Amino acid sequence: MTIEQMPNARSSTAPSTAPTDTELRKLVGLVDHDTSVDNFPVSGWDALVWVVGNATQTAHFLESAFGMRLEAYSGPETGNRDHKAYVLRSGGARFVVKGAVDPDSPLVAHHDRHGDGVVDIALEVPDVDRCIEWARTHGATVLVEPHDETDEFGTVRSAAIATYGETRHTLVDRSAYNGPYLPGYVTRKAGYQPREGAPNRLFQAIDHVVGNVELGQMDEWVEFYRRVMGFTNMAEFVGDDIATEYSALMSKVVANGNHRVKFPLNEPAVSKKKSQIDEYLEFYRGPGVQHIALATGDILGCVDALRREGIEFLDAPDSYYQDPELRARIGQVRVPVEELQSRGILVDRDEDGYLLQIFTKPITDRPTVFFELIERHGSLGFGKGNFKALFEAIEREQEARGNL
Ligand SMILES: [Fe+2]
Repeated sequence: MTIEQMPNARSSTAPSTAPTDTELRKLVGLVDHDTSVDNFPVSGWDALVWVVGNATQTAHFLESAFGMRLEAYSGPETGNRDHKAYVLRSGGARFVVKGAVDPDSPLVAHHDRHGDGVVDIALEVPDVDRCIEWARTHGATVLVEPHDETDEFGTVRSAAIATYGETRHTLVDRSAYNGPYLPGYVTRKAGYQPREGAPNRLFQAIDHVVGNVELGQMDEWVEFYRRVMGFTNMAEFVGDDIATEYSALMSKVVANGNHRVKFPLNEPAVSKKKSQIDEYLEFYRGPGVQHIALATGDILGCVDALRREGIEFLDAPDSYYQDPELRARIGQVRVPVEELQSRGILVDRDEDGYLLQIFTKPITDRPTVFFELIERHGSLGFGKGNFKALFEAIEREQEARGNL
């Protein structure tokens, strides 16, 4: 079965078509939310903005391997002499990758320190000024004051606040704008042609974005998202037992009112081995985005397509699939377990349903940022039951890098 034949993918045909709310309920666990009682209403993701060493090649990688489609561009040809920026989309997910053109660009220093990574988790909000007013009076650092940018397509209002490390949240209201991305960007279609038979698109939406913070800082950032942005805790939580024995990390999850935006936050925990979070903090030179979970309606087709393009995934050991406890726990899923095993896809079940997930190896030179693919079937969790198998796989990779 190809991805076009899957029920989730059939409802929209173009790669750039954003999922409907009905689709988002299934894909990412969207819930109803009354924004009138919300002090910091957030509608969803606007974009994940990356700074990379070579935006031209990263854009090509996201198109050719991850099936994203180029939509817009800014660079020297459009009057932006500082950097090149490529805007790519898959379903409702938008990535913007920026790389310095001018050797004196501030992006050079950022990249020198952090390597490739996400600098801005931009969020879509209905009222920028209301959010900033609330954030300012509740302890946020306002990096960019609310302002308008206008061109022939209309006006975008935005502002930005600081979050962990050198990461920010730009808050964007584009309700009065119908241009390709932001003023200053031009529509640009890719020269890249997808391979014959390639799925129309591999993923439909961003499910969650995970931040790694320093030891002892997780609760502070959970509190930041609660106090400043009105996010609430989600149930998932990694207790001390898992933390110290296997993963050497602690994790809590906060989400906005409609659960469209979910932020798991990790901190290292003290253990015998070097935490995977410590490895990240060392190589990213501080807190930052660890992984981005991409929601897909067909994780099997997605993994097959990505492997064909050379994307590498963390291996799950055969013992994971042979474990009778796991088999009893997961019950019936939509495909035979052997289909998951042959691809290394993990499965977890909770009281609401189950989910299928898999993690890539870091997509950058430094052992920092990676992707998760997630296919939800009712479960609103993050795969807590897989943490042990997952972390053991990560530790094998860490050991191979000499960082354990
Ligand atoms: Fe995740």
